[in-house]
Order: sequence, then structure tokens, then C-alpha cells
Amino acid sequence: MCGIMGYVGDREATSILLDGLRRLEYRGYDSAGISTLDSNRKIHVVKDVGKVEQLAQKAELSGLRGIAGLAHTRWATHGGVTMLNAHPHLSCNREVTIVHNGIIENYLELRRDLDAKGHLFVSDTDSEVIAHLVEAVYRNKKDVLPALTDVVRQLKGAYAFAAILADAPNVMVGARQDAPLVVGLGNGENFLASDALAFIGHTDRVIFLDNRELVLLTEKNVTIYDFEGNVKQKPATQIAWELGSVSRREFEHYTLKEIHEQKETVLQALRQDPRSVDVFVDALERAGKVYITGCGTSFHAALLAKLLFTTYAKIPVEVLLSSEFDQYEELLDKKALLIAVSQSGETADVLSAVKAARKMGVKVCSIVNAMGSTLVRESECTLLNNCGPEIGVAATKSFTSQLMIFNMLALRLGQREAELSDLWSTGRLVEKTLGLDAQIQEIADRLHVANDFYFVGRSLHHPLALEGALKLKELSYIHAEGMAAGELKHGSLALISEGVPVVVLNPEDGTYGDTLSNASEVKARGGRIIGVSTKPSKVYDEYIEIPVAAPNIYPVLEAVPLQMLAYYAAVSRQQNPDYPRNLAKSVTVK
Ligand code: G6P
Repeated sequence: MCGIMGYVGDREATSILLDGLRRLEYRGYDSAGISTLDSNRKIHVVKDVGKVEQLAQKAELSGLRGIAGLAHTRWATHGGVTMLNAHPHLSCNREVTIVHNGIIENYLELRRDLDAKGHLFVSDTDSEVIAHLVEAVYRNKKDVLPALTDVVRQLKGAYAFAAILADAPNVMVGARQDAPLVVGLGNGENFLASDALAFIGHTDRVIFLDNRELVLLTEKNVTIYDFEGNVKQKPATQIAWELGSVSRREFEHYTLKEIHEQKETVLQALRQDPRSVDVFVDALERAGKVYITGCGTSFHAALLAKLLFTTYAKIPVEVLLSSEFDQYEELLDKKALLIAVSQSGETADVLSAVKAARKMGVKVCSIVNAMGSTLVRESECTLLNNCGPEIGVAATKSFTSQLMIFNMLALRLGQREAELSDLWSTGRLVEKTLGLDAQIQEIADRLHVANDFYFVGRSLHHPLALEGALKLKELSYIHAEGMAAGELKHGSLALISEGVPVVVLNPEDGTYGDTLSNASEVKARGGRIIGVSTKPSKVYDEYIEIPVAAPNIYPVLEAVPLQMLAYYAAVSRQQNPDYPRNLAKSVTVK
């Protein structure tokens, strides 16, 4: 939630920061802003409510001079979506500008103290307190590092912030406590951001900051300290994400591009370092009990993993929602293994579950897309999705990558060699499924006026029914529910009336006959059946044909038309599928 970026170097900062903000927009898009420090040591700020493009249109932006600057894109937590609450914030004497991601828990207390000392606050945010605090402390210390260690000593909460002080030109500072912050090492310029994506066009050499670390950056130097002010030596990492993969190419939206990329990304998920897979498999084999945790779409991948592990590896698994994890903490013992699944590796609920588990001595392994993210660093072993940056806020390709990795692990554990090698056919099958694009667009065009949608499936198709409903809600704002097909008759059938769309996930596997009967029950009550299957039936009013495959591959193939349905329903309803209202891709608050 919220993307922050900073630049210090020898080029004009504004256009570099604006470009970075466009790449960070997935983290929030309630408002955006940029501040710079000019050669006369004056800080200038331009901000606006709305998306980055709105900021980019502002005439004042072209006059924003300075070779050091900060930028922010906001997902509102404290204070409404207003111009005054937009970042960057200034201290009252315009001596300090800051951008912040996270929550300052003791901001009211700090604000009262600063108020009493004569500081004038203009916003309702918790973040503004940082600007005033830096100003107040720096006035006494007159030295950036001691001022910064004093500031972080006083702040409570989860945060990453960057600041520039008029009195210390061309020095940028940053601090990290439970929110991501990455340093980009350039040539005669340096960067700071919530995500390396922001500056990947300029450098691929990065240093991932850890909790309780501070950083001072000038155009030539980067020095990292702990919160006590001791210098820390940290190696730089070279990251591999291609700049090209963050462009939309010929697609109208990132979401559509990412849906189409799945023909390759499902295979990239299988291309793992064999040693990492061995470590993961070994951890699963040794575990007394296996738990999997995640949120949103990643939680749905975890639900499917439970079925895969049970069916193919005969390993019982417990799936726990990360946001509910504290209710079950006591179940865990030292012999347990916790698998945390997260695209971003920064979801606060997931990190909090991991922290609790580690405290109890539980081994934590993870499945993550964003390399270098906090979850990777908090885990003893990790398998990366390898699907490249996912910009669309709703998860698409990262979900199918997670499904592929879980498939691979379950089949490895169950020594199902034939199915294991068959996984490589998934790319071709997904490619075939992508050919449904025009048909699904046409279905969405007709059905986007519906008020409610239902998604049903049994066994391996049940998590996909949940995911299909979540995707439709997220992207098109149509109310949707996913459920086990057999559960419909135990209550929800009461909601079916003439024309209500019900998506039935029903390829020919062991659940085919029962699910078809459930579909007939719905049809008899007037429901409009959209069958996703390998075999046509007169029960279906719309038939979406997916290719014949092994049962464990069907969920991956089903994901594609479900994602397309949500995408095209959003487009038909004139919503931007890349940036659904009220949501953010990386939810770094609990
Ligand atoms: C947010 C996103 C969802 C995502 C969930 C978990 O709520 O809007 O699309 O599924 O976070 O994200 P993660 O990065 O942990 O997989």
C-alpha cells in the first residue's frame, strides 16, 4: 500500500520519479505527488488526487526542478483521499519533505507533542508527523545521521519512509521497519523505492534493506546503518527482471497481457533450481504436520494445494487464512512446517503469520513471486514463481504459477513420474485455452448487466470456483459467490431465479457426473448455466470448451477463462481492470 521512490543524482529528478510512479501505481492510486530540492535549497511539491496520469498532466510539473527528489502514490489509510493528505508532506518551515508507506501507530501522541512545540499540521495523515519530527530533531542535532536515529527511536509502527532536508542538499535518507525499501545503485545516481520495478530502467543492482535499517544516499555513495547508527556492510544483488516485461506491449491493459503470458509463465514456474526443490521436498517429508497460509488469490492456491497434496502425495495439510492465523497459533509445534504463499512477499497478514510461526520454532518455506521480498528473507527455503512482475492489481499469472509449483511438489512427493513430466504440456494447453478470448468477450458483453454471479465446482474445481468469483468481484464489481457444487442445494439455491448466471466448472474427471446433476438442479430453477468443460451438454446455455488434460492440470486451464470473464466484464462495464477501486496489489497493513 503506497509506493515510495527517491532519486539523487546528476539528472533532473522529476521525469525519473514520474516514470517510477507509473510502475509503482499498483501499490495504490488514490493520489500521487513529487517533491524536489532545487539548487537554491528550496523544496517544491506538486501533487494531486487521482492516478499518476492526472499528476503527469499538471502544468506545474514541468517547472519542478532539482536533482534530488521524492515521489509517492497513495492507498489511503489515515485521512481521506484529498489533496492535503496526498504525499509528499512538508514540515512547517518547508525544510523537510518526506514520503511514507505504512502506519505510524503513535502518531497522535507525537503530533500532540509537536503541536505543543508550535508545529502546524495541515493533513489528517499519520505520515505528516515524520516531516515535523525530522525537522524538530534535525534543528537540535544539525547532523543527519544522529537526527535520523533519534527519529526512528521515536516512531512506532510499520513503515518505510524517505526524506530530503533542505539543509543537507543532495542527501536522501530512508528507513525501514516492516515495510519494503530497496536501494538502486546507479552510476553517479542512486535510487530508493518500495519496489525495484520503480528504477529497473536505470539500474539492476540493488540492496534490499532489512528491518531496522537506515540508509543515507548521495549521488556517489550509499551507506547503510542499523537503527543505532552503526554502519552495516550489505552486498548488492543483481536482479534479472527485464524492463520489457513491464510494458503493456500490444495489449490494452496489463491484466490482459498478464493473462496471455500464462502460456509461458506456467512453464517458467517449473524451471526451478533442483537444489531448492530438494530442500522444499525434504522439508515436506520431514514435517510432522504441514500448514499452508496466504491471502486472497494466494489463499485459493493454498486450498488447491491441500487437495493436490492429499490426492497425489497422501500428505494431510491444514490451510489457514493468514489474517486469521492467530486463532490457530497454538496448534503449531516445532515439528510443523508452514508454507507461506504470496505473490508480493510483502502482505502484512502473511508476514505476521510467518513471524508468529518462527517465534514458535516452526520451519517456514515460501512460494513467492517477488524475489528479495521480505517473505523470501524470512523463509528458510523459497521457490520463486518466476513469472516476472505482475502489474495488474488482481492476481492472474502469479496464481497459475503457484498452482504449477504446488502440482510439481505434490507429484514429486507422490513419485508420480508420468504426471510430473506431463506438467510440461500445460504451456501448450494454456495457449489453446487462450484462444477462447473472443468467445468470452462476447459472453461478458451479454452478461455484464447481471447483478449476481455464482461459480461452482467440486474437488479440485472448488478453489477455482472461489477464485473465479473473487476475480469477477475485484475487476467488474459484480457481486459473485463461489462454492462447492454440492453445497448449492444446502441454501444458496434459494437465490437462483430466471437468468441468474452460474458458472459450472466441469471437465470430464471423477466429479463430472455429480457436478452435471448440480448444474441441472440450477437450470430447473431458471439459472443460466455457463459450462466450462471438455464435453458439451444440453444443460449448458453457454459452453466454454477447455482442452482435455490430466485432472491436476484442469484447475490451471480453468483459471484462464475465469480471468478473461472478469476482465471483459470489467471492460464492458467501463471499469479499468488494472486498477480496481479501493484495492491495492500489495497490502502492507494488517
Ligand atoms: C491483495 C490483492 C489480491 C491478492 C492478495 C494477496 O488483497 O488485491 O489480489 O491476492 O493481496 O497478495 P499476495 O501478494 O500476498 O499474494
